[in-house]
Amino acid sequence: MPFLIADTNMNTAVIVLLAVSVLLVPSSSELCHPEDKSALLRIKASLNNPPLLSSWQLTTDCCNWSSIFCDLTTHRIVSLFLEQADLPVLSPIPPAIGDLPYLEDLTLNALTNLTRPVPTSLLRLKHLKYITFTDINLSGPVPAFLSHLRNLRYINFFSNQLTGSIPSSLSRIPKLRYIGLDRNLLTGTIPPSLSSLKGNLLYLVLADNDLSGEIPQSFGDVDFGYVDLSGNRLRGDASFLFGKDKRAEKIDLSRNRLQFNLSGVQVYEALTSLDLRYNKIYGEVPEGMAGLELDTFNVSYNRLCGRIPVGGNLQSIGYSAYLHNRCLCGDPLPPCKTA
Ligand SMILES: *[C@@H]1O[C@H](CO)[C@@H](O)[C@H](O)[C@H]1NC(C)=O
Ligand SMILES: *[C@@H]1O[C@H](CO)[C@@H](O)[C@H](O)[C@H]1NC(C)=O
Ligand SMILES: *[C@@H]1O[C@H](CO)[C@@H](O)[C@H](O)[C@H]1NC(C)=O
Ligand SMILES: *[C@@H]1O[C@H](CO)[C@@H](O)[C@H](O)[C@H]1NC(C)=O
Ligand SMILES: *[C@@H]1O[C@H](CO)[C@@H](O)[C@H](O)[C@H]1NC(C)=O
Repeated sequence: MPFLIADTNMNTAVIVLLAVSVLLVPSSSELCHPEDKSALLRIKASLNNPPLLSSWQLTTDCCNWSSIFCDLTTHRIVSLFLEQADLPVLSPIPPAIGDLPYLEDLTLNALTNLTRPVPTSLLRLKHLKYITFTDINLSGPVPAFLSHLRNLRYINFFSNQLTGSIPSSLSRIPKLRYIGLDRNLLTGTIPPSLSSLKGNLLYLVLADNDLSGEIPQSFGDVDFGYVDLSGNRLRGDASFLFGKDKRAEKIDLSRNRLQFNLSGVQVYEALTSLDLRYNKIYGEVPEGMAGLELDTFNVSYNRLCGRIPVGGNLQSIGYSAYLHNRCLCGDPLPPCKTA
């Protein structure tokens, strides 16, 4: 390598030093912090040494293990993601996860044989930004301690068996931007306090629970990125989720008992997915919808009436998007009767 020979003495010295340090002190080349390593080994033990963690060996650098990431500069463990595995025996969610003080991203996904409760040691994870506990058969209430994790941006508890109501204390997590509690057994009303989560766009996914009551009026002030409240027992008005200044790309309110007049609803350019099927929505399809590029649109099984506006994708979407209403007419349904 001729360019190396032409290099400065300084660089040569660095290369020699590096070579010497690697040769003489191999153990000090371990980047992983010993406390993190010890915590990870305790996690492995409490999960009864699943095959998933076979690379977690005392003799190797834990920054090189599977299912984790070390920070590139501090070499502290910042991500732990345990996914898609059968645990050999019933095991608790490892309390030693709370001994990874620099953890920012924690994922437990699709693990069988994991048992509750969520250990309160997780309260110590002051840097935690993303928590994903999906498809792990979690039961009991939404853990209340979450509201003490002040750095959380993202909470995803999709597909578990959580019961009870949505804690209004979630609204005290200042940077929270994503709340995913879909496909659980949650009951009660949606806490109006969630509307105090202001800042960037809010992503709210509460689909397929057993939530009841009305959508809080205060949600009219929220800047949603998307909102999916489908598959609950919500009733009353939802027209305030729409408006000229809104930015939600997706609104899914399908399979509820919502009852409001769609005629006066103000639509806006960003809306590309609107699902309102299976409600008791009345009035007409607003003219403005013809000006949108809607990839998903379905208002079937409601109580709508009047002429379908012409434009955008409202015709090409097909007649099934309009089925089972009171008296909708015009392309793609049969022509309106002129009387
Ligand atoms: C990390 O592990 C891989 C195999 O899993 C191995 O090839 C590589 O040499 C290891 N690197 C270090 C720095 O230990
Ligand atoms: C779950 O644990 C039980 C013992 O507690 C074991 O018999 C069973 O095989 C485990 N299930 C899976 C999918 O590994
Ligand atoms: C989920 O938990 C329930 C009890 O809470 C248990 O009966 C069931 O077997 C669990 N399912 C899986 C896939 O672990
Ligand atoms: C719905 O609202 C429109 C005004 O936006 C009004 O003209 C119409 O009568 C209302 N429809 C019903 C069924 O209340
Ligand atoms: C609209 O929803 C109905 C009812 O679920 C379904 O049968 C139909 O295929 C859907 N149409 C479109 C275009 O999404």
